[in-house]
Amino acid sequence: MPSSPTGTPWVVLKFGGTSVSQRHRWDTIGRLAGKRAGEHGARVLVVVSALSGVTNELTAIADGASDAGARVQALVERHRAFAEALGLDAGAVLGARLDALRALAEDARATTRTLDWQAEVLAQGELLSSTLGAAYLASQGLDIGWCDARDWLDAIELPNQSAWGQRLSVSCRREADDAWRTRFAAQPTRLLITQGFIARHGDGGTAVLGRGGSDTSAALFGGLLRARGVEIWTDVPGMFTANPREVPDARLLTRLDYAEAQEIATTGAKVLHPRSLGPCRVSGVPMAILDTERPDLPGTRIDGDASPVPGVKAISRRNGIVLVSMETVGMWQSVGFLADIFERFRRHGLSVDLIGSAETNITVSLDPSENLVSTDVLARLSEDLAQICRVKVIAPCAAITLVGRGMRSLLHKLSDVWATFGQERVHLISQSSNDLNLTFVIDEADADGLLPELHAELIGSGAMPVQDASVFGPSWREIQHGPPVREPRWWQADAAHARLLELAAGETPRYVYHLPTVRERARALNAVEAIDRRFFAIKANPHPQVLRALVEEGFGLECVSQGELERVFEAVPQLDPARVLFTPSFAPRREYEAAYARGATVTLDNVEALQRWPEVFRGRDLWLRIDLGRGDGHHAKVVTGGAASKFGYPVAEVDAFADAARALDARITGIHAHLGSGIGHPRHWREVYAELAAVADGIGTVDTIDIGGGLTIPYKPDDAPFDLAAWAEGLAEIKGAWPRYRLAIEPGRFLVAESGVLLARVTQVVEKQGVRRVGLDAGMHSLMRPALYDAWHGIHNLSRRGARADAAFDVVGPICESSDVFGHDRRLPSDTAEGDVVAIADAGAYGFVIANHYNLRGLPREDVLA
Ligand code: LLP
Repeated sequence: MPSSPTGTPWVVLKFGGTSVSQRHRWDTIGRLAGKRAGEHGARVLVVVSALSGVTNELTAIADGASDAGARVQALVERHRAFAEALGLDAGAVLGARLDALRALAEDARATTRTLDWQAEVLAQGELLSSTLGAAYLASQGLDIGWCDARDWLDAIELPNQSAWGQRLSVSCRREADDAWRTRFAAQPTRLLITQGFIARHGDGGTAVLGRGGSDTSAALFGGLLRARGVEIWTDVPGMFTANPREVPDARLLTRLDYAEAQEIATTGAKVLHPRSLGPCRVSGVPMAILDTERPDLPGTRIDGDASPVPGVKAISRRNGIVLVSMETVGMWQSVGFLADIFERFRRHGLSVDLIGSAETNITVSLDPSENLVSTDVLARLSEDLAQICRVKVIAPCAAITLVGRGMRSLLHKLSDVWATFGQERVHLISQSSNDLNLTFVIDEADADGLLPELHAELIGSGAMPVQDASVFGPSWREIQHGPPVREPRWWQADAAHARLLELAAGETPRYVYHLPTVRERARALNAVEAIDRRFFAIKANPHPQVLRALVEEGFGLECVSQGELERVFEAVPQLDPARVLFTPSFAPRREYEAAYARGATVTLDNVEALQRWPEVFRGRDLWLRIDLGRGDGHHAKVVTGGAASKFGYPVAEVDAFADAARALDARITGIHAHLGSGIGHPRHWREVYAELAAVADGIGTVDTIDIGGGLTIPYKPDDAPFDLAAWAEGLAEIKGAWPRYRLAIEPGRFLVAESGVLLARVTQVVEKQGVRRVGLDAGMHSLMRPALYDAWHGIHNLSRRGARADAAFDVVGPICESSDVFGHDRRLPSDTAEGDVVAIADAGAYGFVIANHYNLRGLPREDVLA
């Protein structure tokens, strides 16, 4: 941990309830405290909470529970038993404290439950746990002494603070003079233990810090002592980019500045109470959140030295948000309207969180964690507000917040996020004036399942820069199960590797496809029982051998042009035309005629074609491609649904198409939707099926529902593979609800992407102003995906197999365009040199087929490994 400016020897370690309730946990505390004390002459202050559950019991007693006597007795017994479990003499260690607890229950103040009495009751938990801990750690040979936090932390009165707040939710003095520090340091033992949560009231009695109190105590001590650091030891590994229970791919945030950490704590993360950051922030003391059970993980370090990394650091969701929308005609520039409104919120003790304003409307949100927003309070507030405006209460809502530095400069990367919200009703968008957060308020029901999707989109779009290892640590999934174990890729096997080097000895660049991988993916899809018809979207890879392999595996072929149709029948001459789909976009009339002449199934996505070329479609069967009003995909340029997209017929106008078809005696036998490419969340397709089935029911002649392709593959090492099991399960379920349609799919990428590598040779290695670049003889003319979509492909130096990829390079091609970059900051062996053979992975889909001869550089070669 970096040392604080003054370099005092203190390190503050805080342990919460679960960390102090078992003997082996105390052994861990002893070990950690001893270790810290051994570092460069440090002294250690341990701050502890009460044993878990004890503060709840004490709260019940302080609240006047009718069975207070029994509860006190149970607490006495629990602590005695724990003392014995620690091998201590319970009477000698705890006797006086337990007497004090019993005496409080008998105290005259108990009948009126004065605030000072309540504070004293609440304080007993920490006094007991710290006393036990001091005795146990000393018995284990640690040079540790006990001190009373009330001798060191002084409660202060804040303006407008209620008497309750001044006793039971106090703030404490954050400054201390050298004399204070000298006195503290004069305590004889090298290690000290004290209580979290409690402080001295101005009248000499006890006060407590309220929620998050122990963390705040640790931070206060850290600030007052100008400590080297404050470590909050808890039962989670730190702060994450999202709640790991909801988003297993959430990443551990290993380094944050105070402001970001504050924002994340305030808008969602429960690991650190937002109050506890302030004391360390003002004195520049670094904090760390660490996991008692997994002390080797890096945890979250929070300090002021971190050089700001722009980008979204976290996404959170708060439920139970209440929106109050206030409409008036008389507001425009009227003096004091806002004051009138807010005065009424104040009257009902409500603090406002977010605000949106328009000429005639003000909408504000109330956060239940900061307010008591009962229906009663809301009814009274509405009544009051109704005197000056029209009021509407919208609840329950969820607030979804993106936190990170420089939010305003990230807007261009948030298009996928905006698009996702396009499907929900957004009541309010609010951007904080410190440029640290952006919040969307939507109906609570709409927020279910949304976070994993948004999280993936933030990563995919680059808005959350997870490649920056100084900030983003392992994912929760990885922490629990270890790093993702990817099956070795086909080209990593010895024989395949040798074969690739052999092929590369010929001309490069060249694509190599591995048919066993294609067949394996085909079989995985064949195993999904809910699916009745499978087509391969040949646009992804129309190599004849790939087509033949997939036809052999039972796939039909989906074409989008006459050229593709011809390729299909050339490659597989005996192919039954019933297994061919034709799904063009803005194709000329003759291509539709050609497709019908071939006997293929023709899909149409506009009514104008029916009107202008009635003779092409008269008496024919056809499929209708529908736009469900939204799109999806790994990049804006592969989204094929929604008003801005050229694809599909608007779902709301299907009746008009059906009428036009009927007039020509044409039958709609299938309906189809393909809303985009590179989609990772399996629920997408079941939703599409459900929506299409409802449309099909209305048409009446439909027998097949085609839910498109779009399944993604894991391009990056930490991408989770597409969850085929969840996908299959969703399809089985929805098919069960609408069993009378045949279910068709038409994936491209999923079947072929991983089967292909692009082999290239290193042309030059150049360093320019600190950036090292590896140039290849392949470029954006050979593989367009990085230039077109910022797509990520693994890059591997096959000539230096086994060497550590220990240096960072930008990998570029030979084309005269700035977008001719395969990847920035890629790890390759540092001795990568001219002539090395490099493989660009997962290039089997949308690779060769989009290659071109720009700069008059030739097309790549193609080889197939059967
Ligand atoms: N069906 C239709 C109607 C399509 O337009 C597409 C792809 C597919 C199926 C197959 O989608 P897939 O399963 O491969 O995602 N060049 C872009 C992808 C463009 C996809 C165009 N349509 C890329 O390299 O990411």
